[in-house]
Amino acid sequence: MSSDTWEPVQYEKFLRERSAPFFDLLEMVRKKPGMRVADLGCGTGELTRRLHDALEPRETLGIDSSGKMLEKAAEFAVKGLRFERRAIAAFAPRKPYDLLFSNAALHFLPRHEELLPRLAGYLATDGQIAVHLPANQDHPTHVTARQVAADPPFHGALGGYHHPTNVLPVEVYATLLHRLGFREQRVRMNVYTHLLEGPESLVEWVKGSILNEYRSRLSPELWEAFLASYRERLLACVPDDRPFFFTFKRVLIWGAR
Ligand SMILES: C[S@@+](CC[C@H](N)C(=O)[O-])C[C@H]1O[C@@H](n2cnc3c(N)ncnc32)[C@H](O)[C@@H]1O
Repeated sequence: MSSDTWEPVQYEKFLRERSAPFFDLLEMVRKKPGMRVADLGCGTGELTRRLHDALEPRETLGIDSSGKMLEKAAEFAVKGLRFERRAIAAFAPRKPYDLLFSNAALHFLPRHEELLPRLAGYLATDGQIAVHLPANQDHPTHVTARQVAADPPFHGALGGYHHPTNVLPVEVYATLLHRLGFREQRVRMNVYTHLLEGPESLVEWVKGSILNEYRSRLSPELWEAFLASYRERLLACVPDDRPFFFTFKRVLIWGAR
């Protein structure tokens, strides 16, 4: 990411909807006594606290590169749970972890064929990995953002940038886990469904996630123009249903060594 693009207030507008996959992922984890747990891309820390309370580990570390997201994390810290501002690329622990957990963060990182082996290398011999990756890149919300970014004047102002599509086909994750020596695994694609007030709510939803990437790269004037163009094009290609039925595909990955 270019800089600290996160807006916790906007992100949390749909916190209830956004936390459902977190709880599904948490259910996949096998609780063991005295675990060492790391939450990669922990955000505000609210869900890291839920993870910590559920697993009762010896220690939990939440890391995130966004100072703005971490500002709230202090209020969720308790004995055994701490937060650090750090990029996932710089996560290189010396002591192995029993669980590497990541909810809706690793899709921002490229080259998962290299990332997963690196992360697996930080696991204890009987360690677990649990990852949730949003995978809605072919939904109009995401496709429209890429289309607007490809048009002038945004293409030039963004230097050709569009939000990345780093998520691999589900079966590639299953194969990766197998090759990395995970004896057990569950890899699945879930469709989460949300009843939003109307199609305009889609814009509010993505303003809390992928649109941040464009806002942070544009001047305030160009950002306003980008948003107006995005809204117009998106609303022209989705039905004007009220309530609006929003489908969101997400990949859930769990493996145990
Ligand atoms: C969609 S939020 C999810 C936050 C939290 N896991 C949750 O479920 O509420 C994604 C988080 O990943 C963090 N993030 C993205 N790329 C990162 C990176 N390369 N290193 C560390 N954190 C990163 C962002 O700062 C943001 O807080």
